[in-house]
Amino acid sequence: MRTLRVELGERSYPIRIGSGLLSRADLLAPHLEQRRVAIVTNETVAPLYLAQVRSVAAARQPLEVILPDGEQYKTLEVVARIFDALLQARCDRRTMILALGGGVIGDMAGFAAACYQRGVPFIQIPTTLLAQVDSSVGGKTGVNHPLGKNMIGAFYQPQAVIIDTDTLRTLPDRELKAGIAEVIKYGLIRDAEFFVWLEKNLPRLLARDSEALSYAIEHSCRNKAEVVAKDERESGLRAVLNFGHTFGHAIETATEYRSWLHGEAIAAGMAMAADLSRRLGWLAEDEASRIRSLIKMAQLPDRAPPGIDNEQLRTLMEMDKKVESGRLRLVLLKRIGEAVVTADYPSPVLDQTIAAHVRIQ
Ligand code: NAD
Ligand code: GLY
Repeated sequence: MRTLRVELGERSYPIRIGSGLLSRADLLAPHLEQRRVAIVTNETVAPLYLAQVRSVAAARQPLEVILPDGEQYKTLEVVARIFDALLQARCDRRTMILALGGGVIGDMAGFAAACYQRGVPFIQIPTTLLAQVDSSVGGKTGVNHPLGKNMIGAFYQPQAVIIDTDTLRTLPDRELKAGIAEVIKYGLIRDAEFFVWLEKNLPRLLARDSEALSYAIEHSCRNKAEVVAKDERESGLRAVLNFGHTFGHAIETATEYRSWLHGEAIAAGMAMAADLSRRLGWLAEDEASRIRSLIKMAQLPDRAPPGIDNEQLRTLMEMDKKVESGRLRLVLLKRIGEAVVTADYPSPVLDQTIAAHVRIQ
């Protein structure tokens, strides 16, 4: 097992990464003493992994909250079901919530933990690659709104992140690739060496080589932990973690969180952000084409899905949380490994990028 730390003073916490961790009572037990325990998961993950977590927490007779599966259920209404279950079971402020699942469960269970009785502790037990490399670390929690992705939420850090890499064995290929999109992101925004490693080792990730996956997870978590430690509440630097997300979130909203996976939308968004960086003359042509090649090698989309036009994408992008004083700030690349957050780009160039990446004008 490898352990990293997210350094946030008294809110610091460990990220444990390894094989077989779901069965390691010694990792969870110290957090559960004298507490009620509520495991929040979904109907897909429950038959796969709930029994293991339940048995580790057995002494605390855990409450189980099983939610419907899907990004379209990442809503306030579904979070209210967690509150209902906690209240019906008379869970008090000493309750520990265990978020067992992908990013959707992690974001919702974390948000419920932030709100229930004004805050109870929680632990992230991510079971998708995307959640293991990104969403479980850093304390962003929340839900979608029909008018925008992740628009309701809270910064609320977990007590620990426990990543059992064995859970990836049951993950569908499409979900694995979606997670790879966020892995590629770290190479692009701050780790050029990791990007080169990915160019060489992507086939190993796609083939689920466990050593390569562990390396990619650890590297990604280290990058994320460093950024979060410097800027927990996104007053500046942390926005780079949203590379490709302004385009990607607009795609997800336009498709009502149904047709594309989050990671797929982010892959297309990263291709668009790289294209805009190239059109601005910041990113060299050869680097832009290496980025597109890696996205394609990961069998991820590099443009928007059918059915979205220029105007719709542009309007939805303007709903982004990075809009400040009416100016849409974007994360763009100076080179592979160096990102900037800027509103300083000519709007017609953004329109050119959008036009080149939608399928209907
Ligand atoms: P997800 O949670 O929907 O999981 C993907 C699918 O895999 C689901 O059907 C799930 O039930 C299933 N699944 C989970 N683990 C499995 C396993 N081990 N075996 C088989 N199936 C399994 O999606 P995701 O890609 O994990 O997360 C996407 C969400 O994360 C989005 O809502 C996104 O906004 C959010 N996110 C949050 C942050 C953050 O910082 N909080 C960062 C990135 C993404
Ligand atoms: N995934 C973006 C962030 O954690 O800030």
